[in-house]
Amino acid sequence: MPPAAPILTLVIPTFNERLNLDELVRRVADALRGVPWEMVIVDDNSPDGTAEAAKEISRRDPRVRCIRRVNRRGLAGACIEGMLSSSAPYVGVMDADMQHDERILPQMLACLREGTADLVVGSRHQDGGSTGEGFSEKREAMSLLAIRLARWALQTDVSDIMSGFFLLRREVVEEVAPVLLPSGFKILADIIGSSERTLRIVEVGYVFRGRLAGESKLDVKVALDFAGLIVNKVTRGVVPVRFVLFGLVGGLGVVIHLAALRASLAVPGVGFAAAQAIATLVAMTTNFHINNIFTYRDARLRGWAALRGLLLFYAVCALGALANVGIASWIYGLGQPWWIAGLAGVVMGSVWNYALSSLFVWRRTD
Ligand code: GDD
Ligand code: MN
Repeated sequence: MPPAAPILTLVIPTFNERLNLDELVRRVADALRGVPWEMVIVDDNSPDGTAEAAKEISRRDPRVRCIRRVNRRGLAGACIEGMLSSSAPYVGVMDADMQHDERILPQMLACLREGTADLVVGSRHQDGGSTGEGFSEKREAMSLLAIRLARWALQTDVSDIMSGFFLLRREVVEEVAPVLLPSGFKILADIIGSSERTLRIVEVGYVFRGRLAGESKLDVKVALDFAGLIVNKVTRGVVPVRFVLFGLVGGLGVVIHLAALRASLAVPGVGFAAAQAIATLVAMTTNFHINNIFTYRDARLRGWAALRGLLLFYAVCALGALANVGIASWIYGLGQPWWIAGLAGVVMGSVWNYALSSLFVWRRTD
């Protein structure tokens, strides 16, 4: 008789987590006593030998398997591959570093088995949950800001949308897998944003713990990836036609912006930051008019209302413009070419521009 098929596949993405694996498997086995489970450790060829350590464990405990990926890096991609390797009815993702509390796994699984939820999120912002010792103050503030932005963009009220700790019905993953982005950190936000059906989501609180061994891989690039995820989700039709239009106008704005930047740089005595600021102003003004005629034609502002709208447009974009100039100057200062710096600034700014102008200038959120 073959052993009972697992009902839960727990995917553990790893990069340099060798020292955490033994303890992790011990704790999960303890928490899931009585449940047929399996663990898939998806390792991106960590230099510390995580994959060998994982395979060592699987020789002792066949519930543990390891997928070693080579020439690839990416948390989301690792999670997707691990989940797609499963044939169990339920799959989940958890970090290897003990920051996620494995003791809530049975409660999370129960929500799925009762059939009351499609997706269960381990949440730091739910009753009984907190970020505990796991986060610095700065990281906590950044995290809360990103959560707010993502919740708006994805139109969801999940409180811990950035969680890397969740279980769901495997079918949900199978359905959305082809459109998920393998590069980012924000796999949960991506799954929720990509799912065609309305998912029944339950959150279970837990206290985020400090890392056991090793260090965090989350860095500035992750924040940029995250901005990319938002732009992507949004242009794919979370806010359908209008967003695509806004994106097209934005694309035209990029051309205008770069032309203006180039022209301003040709003026003697104009530094890069000033040139980027001028180009931003020119692009904002033309974008306002094109959007008013094109993107928001059903809410077109005329006469004094248009002037007021333009001023409002400047105001709501001020934050985006600040981020734009800041990022662009910083990147330019690192010695990158002017057009790469200019483009990076534009990308940062445009995410904000759409959000705020839809809400405040044209008051259209559909
Ligand atoms: N395979 C693979 N490839 N695994 C990775 C990669 C990668 O490129 N980068 C990170 N991991 C693994 C880590 O080894 C760890 O098991 C898990 O993914 C989370 O990485 P951490 O580096 O520990 O992330 P964190 O603790 O800073 O971030 C946590 O909080 C975020 C929300 O603010 C995680 O839970 C994130 O998933 C979460 O988004
Ligand atoms: Mn961690």
